[in-house]
Amino acid sequence: MTDPAIRVQDLCFSWPSGAKVLQSCSLEVPKGEFWMLLGTNGSGKSTLLRLLAGLLAPQSGKIQILQPVGFVFQNPDHQLVMPTVGADVAFGLVEENLSPAEVSGRVEQALAAVNLLSLSRRPIYALSGGQKQRIAIAGAIARRSEVLLLDEPSALLDPDSQMDLVGQVQRLVKSRGLTALWVTHRLDELNYADGAFLLEQGLVVDRGEPKRLKARLLQTQEL
Ligand SMILES: Nc1ncnc2c1ncn2[C@@H]1O[C@H](COP(=O)(O)OP(=O)(O)OP(=O)(O)O)[C@@H](O)[C@H]1O
Ligand SMILES: [Mg+2]
Repeated sequence: MTDPAIRVQDLCFSWPSGAKVLQSCSLEVPKGEFWMLLGTNGSGKSTLLRLLAGLLAPQSGKIQILQPVGFVFQNPDHQLVMPTVGADVAFGLVEENLSPAEVSGRVEQALAAVNLLSLSRRPIYALSGGQKQRIAIAGAIARRSEVLLLDEPSALLDPDSQMDLVGQVQRLVKSRGLTALWVTHRLDELNYADGAFLLEQGLVVDRGEPKRLKARLLQTQEL
């Protein structure tokens, strides 16, 4: 069996105030699969994603994750920085010192992957919320990300765009062999997942079959 794309072992994280967020948290996401991370407000989902992305450092425990990692935020306006679609996707490639032809090739390919090639000259302000999220994903694809970490990417979308986005990420994972971990409170999105984790007070208390987790959560609590 190949190594998982994400492996977290006994991860512990506290804020400087001493508040414990993750307590010996362990999980694995197999390569080429689309997993979701569920849990009540404050259970540590965003903190875990930031640790996985290397934006925070744990006090103890081990993180193994395939590189490069792409991060997609809840609010795309916190992520898209350039005036137009094409320029924004190209911006993420600055550090790679590619030739202009290589940059435009990568940008075109990434926009095609999210079905937005026709919008490459469009100003960012003239995009819908769902289109903005797809541009953020195109940025990660242009950088050849192996793993996508998505923190409630659908939270600001209407139900149709929400389902378009989750379906698109599922297709990208399957067609390109990527691995994705998607944080959500919306249980209907679980239909698209290969598996899911349930986080409670910084511990993974359940994991596995999305249908079973969905049924459990529908019975027990409002997320
Ligand atoms: N920068 C910070 N400094 C101190 N405490 C923080 C910081 N960010 C988050 N916290 C606290 O850490 C805990 C976990 O927060 P986190 O954002 O990971 O939860 P979450 O599961 O993503 O919640 P939500 O569903 O509301 O997004 C919470 O108690 C939160 O108040
Ligand atoms: Mg969060």
